[in-house]
Amino acid sequence: MSRKVYIETVGCQMNVLDSEVVIGTLRRQGYTLADSPAQADVILFNTCSVREHAEDKIYSALGRLRSLKRHNPQAVIGVLGCMAQKDQHRIAERAPHVDLIVGPGQLAEVPRLIEEARSSRRLQMAVSLGRAEAGRAEVEASFVSFDPVRDPTMRPTPFQAYVRIQIGCDKFCTYCVVPSTRGPEQSRPPAHILAEARQLVEQGCKEITLLGQTVNSYRFQHGDGRVTRLSDLLAALHDLPGLERLKFVTNFPKDMTDDLLDAVRSLPKVVKYLHVPAQSGCDLVLQRMKRNYTVAFYTDMLARCREKVPGVAISSDFIVGFCGESEESFARTVRLVEQARFKNSYIFKYSERPGTKAAQRYADDVPEEVKKRRNNDLLAVQTEISRQEHRRWIGQRVSILVEGPSKRDQNRFAAASPSDTLQLTGRTMTDHIVVCDGSPRLIGQIIDVDIIDASPFTLFGVVSSAASCDSAGLAGLPEAAAFPRRVPLPVL
Ligand code: 5AD
Ligand code: SF4
Repeated sequence: MSRKVYIETVGCQMNVLDSEVVIGTLRRQGYTLADSPAQADVILFNTCSVREHAEDKIYSALGRLRSLKRHNPQAVIGVLGCMAQKDQHRIAERAPHVDLIVGPGQLAEVPRLIEEARSSRRLQMAVSLGRAEAGRAEVEASFVSFDPVRDPTMRPTPFQAYVRIQIGCDKFCTYCVVPSTRGPEQSRPPAHILAEARQLVEQGCKEITLLGQTVNSYRFQHGDGRVTRLSDLLAALHDLPGLERLKFVTNFPKDMTDDLLDAVRSLPKVVKYLHVPAQSGCDLVLQRMKRNYTVAFYTDMLARCREKVPGVAISSDFIVGFCGESEESFARTVRLVEQARFKNSYIFKYSERPGTKAAQRYADDVPEEVKKRRNNDLLAVQTEISRQEHRRWIGQRVSILVEGPSKRDQNRFAAASPSDTLQLTGRTMTDHIVVCDGSPRLIGQIIDVDIIDASPFTLFGVVSSAASCDSAGLAGLPEAAAFPRRVPLPVL
């Protein structure tokens, strides 16, 4: 009898990829996916520790499973990911009904530990070493990148995939848990990345997004001393026939080198979009965050990106209400957002994370109400800029990769026939989201769309006549029936 697994994912793209590969591995061992915890033999949470809110959500979800576990003591409940690494003992105390605690560097162990938990009925824990627990090499070795053979039916779409090129982070921004939960920065060997990408393209994958916490600091030193940089990797991947689009996230401002920008400009398959978080527009705050750059450096870097890659779209992250952020500091952040003209920005209220340098050194002294107001104010400024930037596209013809039905038509999609018209959504080469009406056959295709309207977050278009005549696409891809999404996307 086949066992059923249920998974919930919160957090970043790396977690989405981790969930995909864990579920893909379990599927190869005969598991099928359950739609709810009640139907599952194994219930997994892939967790995030970046903000307290994300952790609270997981503890509430675990609390709700207490009675399920009473009624079905055979069920295996697992906590995977950053919370497992950071709070291993706390999870066991707060949720004693949890059977499995597995950090992001130990995911390959999940299938074996499920069996152990089932047979021994004892808590199974697999976490990596803390950064101060041993020498660099030993800590590195305890964080293992888990990149098994990919299963296209486990991805949100079969024609798009994430590929990990780097794990961990060495930047140690003072507010951030990632360097301790995901361990030291380690770049995967280019040959492994290329082999994985080749396999994905053979499976029908048209768009690959390279993942790393600071992806542009990717650097692999070969045995003979040669070095492969992200720009070299992009050039090598670019040659894969069948691959149409290459993206990479997330960039660190200090590592935005000219060779990378030249590669982005000159390689036609590389998306003209850079996500480069600034975090703050105040030098004092940046210093306290230990970001290692000034606002002037950041704005020069933006100018260099725009000069080297004409038309490039840039997005950013900001934290408001960081320790010691005065009204004057915040005003400087507003000024940066006004000047930088990002496509969009992700704005977060500072959340103190125990164990980080900021928690040890500085008081979390900006009141919640002030954080909320600054968040809203900065968002309003960015939204107005996004609206203006998006409206500049009206009247232009863009090429989009159609990703699926829009949110509005998700339910209609299941019953739709190729001759129906649905509202579809896709992204341009500058990562702008486009919505247009079209046949579900267009899903998975790159088509031309004429932009007729724009909101701050979306471009509205009509399929150009040339594109609408083409009828290949989803129907031609393997596992077309895999839609809609198999492994649900993060709930955060
Ligand atoms: N509080 C709030 N936001 C944070 N981020 C990282 N750590 C914290 C924290 N402690 C934000 C940063 C980062 C994004 C992924 O999450 O902006 O770029
Ligand atoms: Fe965290 Fe800074 Fe590393 Fe990004 S660069 S993951 S914010 S420590």
